[in-house]
Amino acid sequence: MNFTILFIFILILIWGGWALRKYIRPYFRRKQLKEWLQHHPKQAQLEISMNALSSLYRFSFSHQVAKFSQITRGLKQQVYLYGEIDLLNFIYILDKLNPNTEDVFYDLGSGAGKAVFTAATAFPFKKAVGIEIIPELITLSRSRLAKYHEQPFDNISHCQIQFIQGDFLEIPLKDATIVFVNATAFSARFWQYVLQKLIALPKNTRVIINTHTLPEQYFNLISQDYEIMSWGLTRVSLYQRR
Ligand SMILES: C[S@@+](CC[C@H](N)C(=O)[O-])C[C@H]1O[C@@H](n2cnc3c(N)ncnc32)[C@H](O)[C@@H]1O
Repeated sequence: MNFTILFIFILILIWGGWALRKYIRPYFRRKQLKEWLQHHPKQAQLEISMNALSSLYRFSFSHQVAKFSQITRGLKQQVYLYGEIDLLNFIYILDKLNPNTEDVFYDLGSGAGKAVFTAATAFPFKKAVGIEIIPELITLSRSRLAKYHEQPFDNISHCQIQFIQGDFLEIPLKDATIVFVNATAFSARFWQYVLQKLIALPKNTRVIINTHTLPEQYFNLISQDYEIMSWGLTRVSLYQRR
């Protein structure tokens, strides 16, 4: 009898752990990231950026705006599924690439613009550009930009910030040195078009890509790890164009 109860208890524990894995693994990853920040030489500056970013996006309701646009515009394709970066984790990812004042950041499918503002406030980028196809998300990004230009955010960096509404497949990325694609939801077919766009990037351009991988023939892998996104942990790979 006791053995049966113990067995059921262990089964419940295993099932609970499995059911909660979406929350447990990001919890431990976040703990690691907080520790990483504690020991970072620019900890104070990065914390100021984090606070500015959190304040910038307070009450922005980006997921709801995306959902509303999908429903009202009938955007049913997988490619429009909305999800976002985690602010601290994206600082960690960009830090690996050690951006400098000559670097230009592009987010292909920039959503509410969080990755663009993270690049602009936490690192010395020359320019940060977001390209997004959904007009309501561009309106949201530009409203954050207007807020950003109010004090005190504007003092954090001198990075030029731009949000372009359109299809990133059709927009030239001529000055890009670091390109981010949050590509988890991209279908296999759409991914092939994105891949051609990335292959056309100039030598040495660095690429941050979620879930998908890039061919060795064209890209050197810099690092690969599981990072926090708004929906949970996702594989993020950093590459450099050969
Ligand atoms: C997963 S969200 C990522 C948002 C943002 N990059 C982030 O990580 O916080 C992907 C975004 O790509 C946009 N998108 C999809 N196809 C696009 C295209 N061809 N051109 C521009 N944006 C596109 C979607 O509307 C969506 O907002």
